[in-house]
Amino acid sequence: MDLTDRPRRLRTDGIRPLVSETSLEATDLVAPVFVDATTDERIPIESMPGHERVPVDEAAARVAEVRETGVEAVIIFGIPESKDAEGSRAYAKDGVVQEAVQQITAETDAYVITDVCLCEYTDHGHCGIIEDHAEDDPTLTVQNDPTLDLLAKTAVSHAEAGADMVAPSSMTDGMVGAIRDGLDDAGYSDVPIMSYAAKYESAFYGPFRDAADGAPAFGDRRHYQMDPANAREAMREVALDVEQGADVLMVKPGLPYLDIVRAIRETYDHPVAAYNVSGEYAMLHAAAEKGWLDLDATAHESLLSMKRAGADLIITYFAERVAENLAGRR
Ligand code: PBG
Repeated sequence: MDLTDRPRRLRTDGIRPLVSETSLEATDLVAPVFVDATTDERIPIESMPGHERVPVDEAAARVAEVRETGVEAVIIFGIPESKDAEGSRAYAKDGVVQEAVQQITAETDAYVITDVCLCEYTDHGHCGIIEDHAEDDPTLTVQNDPTLDLLAKTAVSHAEAGADMVAPSSMTDGMVGAIRDGLDDAGYSDVPIMSYAAKYESAFYGPFRDAADGAPAFGDRRHYQMDPANAREAMREVALDVEQGADVLMVKPGLPYLDIVRAIRETYDHPVAAYNVSGEYAMLHAAAEKGWLDLDATAHESLLSMKRAGADLIITYFAERVAENLAGRR
């Protein structure tokens, strides 16, 4: 064959690292940590092997374990001791996230991000205030504007506790602006916002909702989270969040939405985050358990693909495992 161009010349072991376009490092990763105010011992999360809910007093120890793997950042989710219609434990000074963050920042050097949402704190499990009408009413939805104030209060309470960055995930219109104003007014103009800018109404969140006890008691989230069919709409969502002051733009879930990661990367210069969600984690584990997939190889490939698509950072339940592999410690 008279082939001039032979791409295989650049695939020998010696040259592959030199021509590699994408790299994955432990410092790209953010590890989710679940803190549970209802327990005084660690409780394994069945649908997310290797993950557990930890009591507040062990939050700092849990984060120290993450740091030992080389992962430097965590995102904190809380399971409160009680829930009510307005999710008041989300913005309580002595709430589960607030207390955990105080301890984590006192005892570790981790970069601490907090998820800002109400769904784990409301008794109905929705991400905001619900109008007082029948649960089977098809027009029932989260009241957008009254929810904004509660989100801002929640974000400020996290900053007061010492959070380095807040990550609003409720898909409330105007949430980034309301939180930016709240933080600035309270003297936290240096605390950045990582917006869950394009968050889809995805079936891949199932294991997380078990883990954080945040499944809606009725209905679903399609009135506020995005339709998986839409990509152009993601660009509108991102534009609004950028206008309102978002510092980091997140796409969630990760692997099924790499086109969205890429589109945002090409249009904006802001850092882009991908959230490799609970269902993406659970499905690889389930297949690996059956011997159908190699867990370490598929986890690495998943995260590398997110970087290749344009993500700068990745929130992933694989953070510790992948970091240990990268360091050759596993
Ligand atoms: C809170 C929140 C959710 C996730 C992150 N923040 C749940 C949801 O929107 O239903 C899901 C994360 C995952 O599945 O790993 N709103």
